[in-house]
Amino acid sequence: MPEYEKWFQKAMDNIGTKRIGKSISFFKEVDSTNAQATRQAKNGAGDGTILLAEVQNAGYGRMNRHWTSPKGGLWLSIILRPDIVPKHATIITLMGACSVAEALKSTHGMEAKIKWPNDVLISGKKVCGIMTEMRTRGNEIDYVILGLGINVNFPVTDLPQDIRETATTLQRECEKDVSTRKLFKTLILELDDMYDKLLSRQSGFILDSWRGKSDTLGQQVRVVTIKESIEGNAVDIDESGALIVRTEDGKMRNIIAGDCVHLERKQ
Ligand code: BTN
Repeated sequence: MPEYEKWFQKAMDNIGTKRIGKSISFFKEVDSTNAQATRQAKNGAGDGTILLAEVQNAGYGRMNRHWTSPKGGLWLSIILRPDIVPKHATIITLMGACSVAEALKSTHGMEAKIKWPNDVLISGKKVCGIMTEMRTRGNEIDYVILGLGINVNFPVTDLPQDIRETATTLQRECEKDVSTRKLFKTLILELDDMYDKLLSRQSGFILDSWRGKSDTLGQQVRVVTIKESIEGNAVDIDESGALIVRTEDGKMRNIIAGDCVHLERKQ
């Protein structure tokens, strides 16, 4: 059995999850685990299916941006079929970010912060990106693909020049290689637990966990959506995970999706 398959089998051995990881595929190299997951979801792959790759040669992030995915990272996608309304699907992104932050804390004692909606930061630098892609049928979710990319054991010089200042890897933060298997296993357990809470209508737990880890709340932000750019103070998230921003004129805006920039903190 190839080394990477052994690695994967061992990580999933007796993991005891309720839903996540009931079916798993490992790729030595793939275009994108999200693209692969979309194909499998369209062919009927079940809730909780995991796709994990050692290398992605066409990984992508939000806004279809290229996502550099060399060997040494944790690149995975999970097919979910939650019984929730599509407008609450943003919570799945928040659930992903909270699970990564919790896993980093319990495996490496790291206090990760979350920048709305989906960036996990260590010391202010992005170590993990998360995105969801969804297909609906009427007012029901057919599937959501939760894609998570964690920069684990590779040098920052493997990342494109223009993001080296704002991104980091666990190898750099810990000044040594860390156990990818331990991180993966802990992450899957966290995700399974949070997903269970989501399905049993305890999404308040996820929202509170996110609030506690947020780097965005309380900050002056600019959020660029497909329609407009909104500036103001990030005061909270609502029950669907939208960011609530109080603008200069005192109006509250609930923003479902967009690119968020933290502006200078007001003195
Ligand atoms: C972002 O911050 O823009 C989200 C990045 C998501 C990257 C992950 S890596 C695994 C999965 N496969 C992809 O092609 N993208 C996601």
